Amino acid sequence: MTNPVIFETHGRIGVLRMNNPPVNALSPAAVAGLIEGFAAFEADASLQALLLHCEGRTFVAGGDISSFDLPNFSTAPFNTFLARLEQSARPVVAALHGTVLGGGLELAMACHYRLALPGTRVGLPEVKLGLIPGSLGTQRLPRLAGVPLALDMIQSGRMLDAGWALEAGIVDVVREGDALNLGLAYAEQLAAANAPVRRTSELPVSQAGIPSDFFAAALSAAQKKPAYPALAAAVWCVQAAAELPFAQGEQVEAREFEVLRPSATSRALRHLFFAERQVSKIPGLPKDVALRKIATVGVVGAGTMGGGIAMNFANAGIPVVIVEANDEALQRGLGLVRKNYEASAAKGKLSAQQLAQRLALLTGSLDYADLAGCDMVIEAVFENMDLKRQICAKLGQVCKSGAIIATNTSTLDVDELAAATGRPADVVGMHFFSPANVMRLLEVVRGAKTAPEVLATVMKLAGVIGKVAVVSGVCYGFIGNRMAEVYMREAEFLLLEGAQPQQVDRAVEALGMAMGPCRMLDMAGIDVGAKTVIERDKAGGLPADPSYRVLVRKLFEMGRFGQKTLAGYYRYEGRTPVPDPALTEICVALAAQYGIQRRSDISDQEIVERLLYPLINEGALILSEGIAYRGADIDMVWVAGYGFPDHRGGPLFLADEIGLKKIVERMAAYATERGNACGYWTASNLLKNLATQGKRLSDSSAP
Ligand code: COA
Repeated sequence: MTNPVIFETHGRIGVLRMNNPPVNALSPAAVAGLIEGFAAFEADASLQALLLHCEGRTFVAGGDISSFDLPNFSTAPFNTFLARLEQSARPVVAALHGTVLGGGLELAMACHYRLALPGTRVGLPEVKLGLIPGSLGTQRLPRLAGVPLALDMIQSGRMLDAGWALEAGIVDVVREGDALNLGLAYAEQLAAANAPVRRTSELPVSQAGIPSDFFAAALSAAQKKPAYPALAAAVWCVQAAAELPFAQGEQVEAREFEVLRPSATSRALRHLFFAERQVSKIPGLPKDVALRKIATVGVVGAGTMGGGIAMNFANAGIPVVIVEANDEALQRGLGLVRKNYEASAAKGKLSAQQLAQRLALLTGSLDYADLAGCDMVIEAVFENMDLKRQICAKLGQVCKSGAIIATNTSTLDVDELAAATGRPADVVGMHFFSPANVMRLLEVVRGAKTAPEVLATVMKLAGVIGKVAVVSGVCYGFIGNRMAEVYMREAEFLLLEGAQPQQVDRAVEALGMAMGPCRMLDMAGIDVGAKTVIERDKAGGLPADPSYRVLVRKLFEMGRFGQKTLAGYYRYEGRTPVPDPALTEICVALAAQYGIQRRSDISDQEIVERLLYPLINEGALILSEGIAYRGADIDMVWVAGYGFPDHRGGPLFLADEIGLKKIVERMAAYATERGNACGYWTASNLLKNLATQGKRLSDSSAP
């Protein structure tokens, strides 16, 4: 391996140059290189100043996150180096560009002078990994930027641009040009002026803008989010910076950092950091595959989904044609999109000019011929196989050669729809989540015949419209809804057995789920949920269990569609769900009809186990069937699309934390207690094998 840091001299300036692609992260080798290079500078008394400079796209963007799990991980070598660097008797200058984050900003703050290029951004994003800065960021930043801004940056992880960093005192000069040349010139200028060294650790912490209850209030706010302990740790550290000598503050930070680093929250968030980057990597897809150009997009269907999908493209500056079957539906759909944009503008999120631009990018039409010029067309009509098949056939004819045809189905067979187009290589599934202009997840469904460049193009496009795209193979419900199905199945059985919706919801919400299954389905629409069950039944896909999801079908029959009809699993007062005795009556009647015994001893623990363990098991099946490429992909789907708490790392990461052995044992216990005629409680071979081998599900890949 080449040395990631080299030391060289430019006249009377020593230069430490780092080259550790892709983002100059502080790997152990990089830290060793810095230490060695600095020793060379110290040994050469002829040099007047030292410049730190990084090659490539950015100055150091942080500590090497992958090294945080190493058994011998320690911040000590780097922190000791920072102290020595700061103690240098000759000026040390950092030339900043790119994203100066975490350990990168900590390194820069230990230097005596900081120059930044105009596009530079600085920040301490460790909180996003469940951490606080561990290399004196919590002690040096308050000394440069003041306590309120420092605490805000550490708790939010947000970045400041160069201009703001200059104003805040984090950088000293902003200059345009080449970082190395500018840095050298600045170092020369400082050397010529005999500029003094300025040690950040020796600066007093300004007490300006700190009310007497500042830290107490900050702590109380932080402790309202106990799932994110880094927020409170940040308060303790910054308070130490404000009130204690530097050396003592250093000890507080070191102690808090070491509590957080091995914590489940931080490990979960680190897992997701890498998961989010991994999902875009598609095994077997050549890196250099030529992408198709997508300059215009068509959407079929102006319903909630179609409108939301169209907004994604308009937001990214891509013109969209929306086609509907009749003018009334079209006008209603376009009106809804307009209202959405106007609401954003009213909140100040869009300027009048942006509002006008976005609306101008949207065109409505009643004629499929208007889709002929589009580079991609997404059908987003409601979930009905016959209708979608007809539309796909039509699209196969009207779309120009080379256009991509995408289906926004949430459960249906993409291969069947692809066949209906007559050009299956052009077809891919794009499963958006509602509201489609807000939710980050996009499941990209790779059909048996989807051309590699079609898949690659859609993955790239997903990035352009700000989505986290996860590839799924074809199966009922793909990754997310297939897992959600077993979760909903158990939720309904629990209700029939005597649990109340509010108890079921509360039990999983206590785990951190954004919303329990009953509130979720009431919001998404019981009609939507029931129709997918009905469609699956038509396709012969339901288990041989007459009581399978009878509740959702009954509620649908009764017109209890959820929030929109003010009754579903709950009754609604406005948007507030209220327990509804009528629901209990429905459950009692269904239980009697299907011979299900009701009981009053259903515990929260049973609810959590029965909702989560089959879902985890389904995830393991999805992985072993190669529907998902990696366990991490499944976790990303649930965190980005289903409100699964990020501090739990996703369902498979949570499974690893619970212990796969325990899950297998509990599945077996439920099989005995509840019977297993339909295989609901049969643990997958993958789950059982990993449990026996002591391996992790969230780190596993498809065979
Ligand atoms: N440690 C290890 N690897 C890192 C890293 C870090 N601190 N930061 C980025 N990487 C890796 C990514 O995993 C990715 O690797 P891959 O190409 O093998 O998938 C690569 O660098 C590029 O990162 P990516 O996020 O895809 O690029 P980007 O240009 O969109 O964003 C950053 C660059 C630096 C803004 C972003 O990666 C980031 O926020 N990194 C984390 C910074 C951080 O938290 N630092 C503090 C750590 S304590």
